[in-house]
Amino acid sequence: AAMTSGSARTDLDMQAYEERLEARLGKSREMMRVILNKAKSDPKRVALAEGTDEKMVRAAYQMQDQGIAEPVLVGDRDSITAIAADLGLDFEPEVVDPKNGDWDHYADRLYELRQRKGLTKNEAHEWIRGDTNYFASVMVEEGDADAMLTGLTHHYPSALRPPLQVIGTAPEANYAAGVYMLTFKNRVIFCADTTVNLDPDAETLAEVTKHTAELARRFNVEPRAAMLSYSNFGSVTNEGTKKPRDAVELMHDDPEVDFQVDGEMQADTAVVEDILEGTYEFSDLEDPANVLVFPNLEAGNIGYKLLQRLGGAEAIGPMLVGMDKPVHVLQRGDEVKDIVNLGAVAVVDAQNE
Ligand code: ACO
Repeated sequence: AAMTSGSARTDLDMQAYEERLEARLGKSREMMRVILNKAKSDPKRVALAEGTDEKMVRAAYQMQDQGIAEPVLVGDRDSITAIAADLGLDFEPEVVDPKNGDWDHYADRLYELRQRKGLTKNEAHEWIRGDTNYFASVMVEEGDADAMLTGLTHHYPSALRPPLQVIGTAPEANYAAGVYMLTFKNRVIFCADTTVNLDPDAETLAEVTKHTAELARRFNVEPRAAMLSYSNFGSVTNEGTKKPRDAVELMHDDPEVDFQVDGEMQADTAVVEDILEGTYEFSDLEDPANVLVFPNLEAGNIGYKLLQRLGGAEAIGPMLVGMDKPVHVLQRGDEVKDIVNLGAVAVVDAQNE
């Protein structure tokens, strides 16, 4: 009898678990469907800087097969063709091979962009032939591809540096930032900055918030932003709590800010309706926040990873915002589905160019 009731309970637990999982995946599928459908309506050329990576080849196949993007694999042509054949993928990927072909115009462009930043002509030629992150960055900068994905085989900063140097930020922007979209049951939140700015000042926090709010709208989510801290509206005052508070002031004075934003506030204030509507009913947030802006990179990177792993959120990202052209830098070890999802985000970015 003990066995029976034990396994019955397990079955019930499993059923409840599966229902929760389905509910959550339902939300995340819904969010991704918005982006995938937008991408498919007008697919763009996406340069995959790590073209000889097996996962990139698989992702290229899926993006092309599903009509999400027109992938361009950057790397050694023979290796890429062999990988696609070994994987039994029935497609002829578009490949650009930096070591074969005449890419002097890319080297010239790189030299032109970086000659006053210490780059020599020889180095420009070497980098174009030898470093696919520079090659793909120049490709996008020159308009030969609409977007770029990289990062799978590099540490994040070294994959990010070439696009920062070559493509840079959008004219109205000064800072790039990495955003994760996390989906929970019935709830979607955007977390920033999770990957780029180590110790942002108030101006940077305000700019990152504006980029993130704009990104949320691309997913058809109306942004409500909270500037997070360990203090609630002045309950602790020091340099650390002043930064997010100053950022709120900057945004409240900024006529371009057309979304709800408030803080500084603790994370539970931001996401729990009772706290927000009870103790802090004066807040500008009419509902719990869905854009969470962390005060520094330690908090942002640690925070989203805990939410993902312990809170069981589905994560899409890191989506790089603030760049002049669509570039996304994956995390080492990301899966094919992560690449395809970010590819779709990049295509939608490119449509808005
Ligand atoms: N936004 C936009 N552009 C920037 C930024 C920024 N936040 N920071 C630097 N740049 C630009 C610079 O202006 C410079 O351009 P220039 O050469 O044309 O003048 C170029 O990028 C390189 O800047 P440096 O200062 O030489 O580069 P630095 O070595 O500081 O690298 C980087 C910048 C890579 C963003 C660095 O700040 C960094 O390492 N950040 C943390 C990344 C990280 O470790 N994230 C956590 C792990 S990632 C994860 O978990 C997915």
